This record gives sequence, C-alpha cells and structure tokens, in this order.
Amino acid sequence: MSGRTVLVTGGAGYIGSHCTVELLEAGYNVVALDNFINSVPGPGPGMPPSLERVQQITGRHITFYVCDLLDKQGLQRIFQEHTIDCVIHFAAIKAVGESMQFPLLYYKNNLIATINLLEVMEEHNVYQLVFSSSCTVYGNPESLPITETHPTGDVTNVYGRTKHFIEGMLKDISVANKKWNFIALRYFNPVGAHPSGLIGEDPTKAFTNIMPYMAQVAIGNKPHLTIFGGDYDTEDGTGVRDYIHVMDLAKGHVAALDKLQKEHQRLKFYNLGTGNGVSVLQLLKTFESVTKSKIPFKICDRREGDIVSMYANASLAENELGWKAKFTLPQMCADFWRWQTLNPDGYRKCAEANGSRKKSTNGHGLPMTEIYNRNEVENTKQNGNFQQKNVENLRQNGHAHSIFSNITDNEH
Ligand SMILES: NC(=O)c1ccc[n+]([C@@H]2O[C@H](COP(=O)([O-])OP(=O)(O)OC[C@H]3O[C@@H](n4cnc5c(N)ncnc54)[C@H](O)[C@@H]3O)[C@@H](O)[C@H]2O)c1
Repeated sequence: MSGRTVLVTGGAGYIGSHCTVELLEAGYNVVALDNFINSVPGPGPGMPPSLERVQQITGRHITFYVCDLLDKQGLQRIFQEHTIDCVIHFAAIKAVGESMQFPLLYYKNNLIATINLLEVMEEHNVYQLVFSSSCTVYGNPESLPITETHPTGDVTNVYGRTKHFIEGMLKDISVANKKWNFIALRYFNPVGAHPSGLIGEDPTKAFTNIMPYMAQVAIGNKPHLTIFGGDYDTEDGTGVRDYIHVMDLAKGHVAALDKLQKEHQRLKFYNLGTGNGVSVLQLLKTFESVTKSKIPFKICDRREGDIVSMYANASLAENELGWKAKFTLPQMCADFWRWQTLNPDGYRKCAEANGSRKKSTNGHGLPMTEIYNRNEVENTKQNGNFQQKNVENLRQNGHAHSIFSNITDNEH
C-alpha cells in the first residue's frame, strides 16, 4: 500500500473519478479538486456525486476542494494544507469543436491552469506529475500502430494544440530544473465505466463523444447515430479507433505514479491504448449484441480534419510500466451500458437526492471531511445488485432499446 498523497486535478470528471478508485485501492490518499466546468457539482459547493460514489465503492475517504486552477491562490491554499507527494493533472476542457470556436478559452483554461499548477508545485517542492495527454498530438498518423517516437505537433485543432504545447512546456522545464519527474500519458479512446455501474461519464457541456452519444440514442433521447464517412480506406469504410476501458486507463496512472516514485526519468511519454483498431461499425455491432438492441444510424459525408485510422502500439507502457489493457470491447460496452441504464440522468438526480445526507458543505478552497461508514458502502453494493436486476427489467420492457453514435466531436 502506497500511503502517499496524490493531488488529482479534475477529479470530479470522467477519467479523474475512475482513476481515484484505483488510487484509493492502491493505498494512495487522494486530495481532489475541480471547478465543475464539465462535471456535476454536489448540491452545495461540496463533494461532487461522482466522488461520493467513489467513496462508496472503495470505503475510503477523499478530501475534495472546489477550486479553479486559474485561481492560483486557491491552489496554493491546498498545497499549504496538505503534504502532497505527487499530482495527476486531468483538469482540462476537451471538446474539439468548441475549441475551434473559442480558442482563447481553451488556451487560457488548459495552458494557464497548467502553468499555475506547475508554479505552485515548484513553490512546494513537489516535482512528480502525471499529465493527461492524448493521441491527438500525433495528428494524422504516418504509420500504424503509432509508437511514442511518431512525430507530434501537426495537430488539426486547438484542443489538441493545448496538449501539444503542454508537452513542450514539460520538456522545457524538465531540462531547466532537473528535479522534475514527469510522465505524459497519451490516451487513445477511453470508454466504458466502473463495473459497479455507480460511476461513469456524465459531461455537463454539450458533448459528442461516441459512447455517451450512443447511449443517448439507446435511451431514446436522440433518434439515431450519425457516422461521418463511410468510404474511408478501412475494412468497412468507417473510421478506426483504439477504444480503451476507462478502468484500464485508470490502472495505467497508478503504474505511472509507481514508476515516478521508483525512477527519476525527467520526462517520459507513454501510449495508453489496447493496440486494437476498431471501426465505428464494429463498435456499433458489438454494442448491439451486448445490449440486445438494434441501433439506427445514418452515414453522412466525411468531415474535414477527421483522422481515418488511429491505434496504439502500447508495448512501451507494457515493458516499462508493467501495464497492459485487459478489458475487451464487449466489456467496455457492457459496463458503459450498465452505468447509463442505471443512471439515465447521470449524476443529476443523485446530486439532488443526496442533498439531505450532507453534514457540511464548505465554500471555495475548504475541504469536505464527510466520511461514509462501511454500512452505507455495503448498502450501496447491495443496491448495485438490485439495480442490475432493474437493467434486465428495462431491457425486457423494451426501454433499453437502440444505441449508438459515430466518431463525432471526438478529440481523436
Ligand atoms: N475522455 C477522452 O476521450 C480523453 C482522451 C484523451 C485525453 N483526455 C484528457 O484527459 C483529461 C480528463 O478527461 P475527462 O474525459 O475525464 O474529461 P472531463 O471533462 O470529464 O474531466 C475534466 C475535469 O476537469 C475539470 N476542469 C476543467 N478545467 C478546470 C480548471 N481550470 N480547474 C479545475 N477543474 C477543471 C472539469 O470540470 C472536469 O470535471 C483531460 O485532460 C482530457 O483532455 C481525455
């Protein structure tokens, strides 16, 4: 067990909350922060429902701060209150289309926030950081599967450029100050949810990532899936991506932190993917078979700037971090479907319902100290089983009908 304290920025979000499960289970103490720009807040300015549920899953406590990384003083207070050993930096905004419309918003939020974080870390002698990067930094692949030595920077959108610039910034400061120890993880396409169905992806900004979109079609909130491009040079003409289960991704972060603790590498990049290229239609068929539903879809023209095929060579992470993705595509679909059908409104209902249970809600920059007891955790697990039966009922009643989406405003 680690016993070390990790600061998780963007902890209320999709990957941050799933990663926090793995961190707590690996023995890390977690201090998390978020400004809720793309996640559901608690009923007051306190613990978000995603992290409340992480506490329920793990039976462990999280200290949470409502904090915007653009508020450097708020961030400094967190570092003053806790002995932080290392940081995982998830906090960013990530919608490709929006980034093209509002480039300054993206440069400000993603770059200034990261600069603030790095400055405050340096002030407090904290030099270990895992950064959420993306395969989008590779641009249009020259060869497949992509290794970490593939050229980066020929990025077609503002969001991707923020990731590329931050990678460059990490390079420069690791040269200037040898104390820094960075790992940048280049994620491929995270999908799925925690197998309990208690936590999953629930963005508050308009979204078009493939699985949440599919799920919205499935529960009847959207009429069909639009697939952009059916005449690409791929097996079935649709775009190919490397989908990775979010819990595999989460484990990759624990492996990265272990590596940082054991070795001073200054700066390393690792791909986190499965290595399998899956087309949109293959994903759709798998989802149909897992959810026993028929998915309506329409194939439209290609979109400018979309990448045809992108999948990882993840052998560096396997060799150096001892990490390998284990979940299969059907498991990714099943876990996401469980989350969606158990929580058709995402966390929103739960945020309201849990309001009465809160003992305290604190203002900006103050920690939530509420700890759920073990009984509550056990009850939730039993509810999880009960809810699983409800999914079956929904399916039998025909409510759990068609699914699916395309590669839409996905960042990859
Ligand atoms: N999901 C993907 O497909 C994907 C792929 C590659 C890389 N990434 C990167 O992984 C990270 C996490 O992604 P995610 O899918 O969990 O996104 P997410 O939007 O679910 O989570 C990000 C969290 O950061 C918070 N946040 C944003 N700006 C902040 C700020 N200035 N201060 C404090 N909190 C802030 C948001 O409110 C949100 O809760 C991001 O950096 C993203 O760019 C995601």
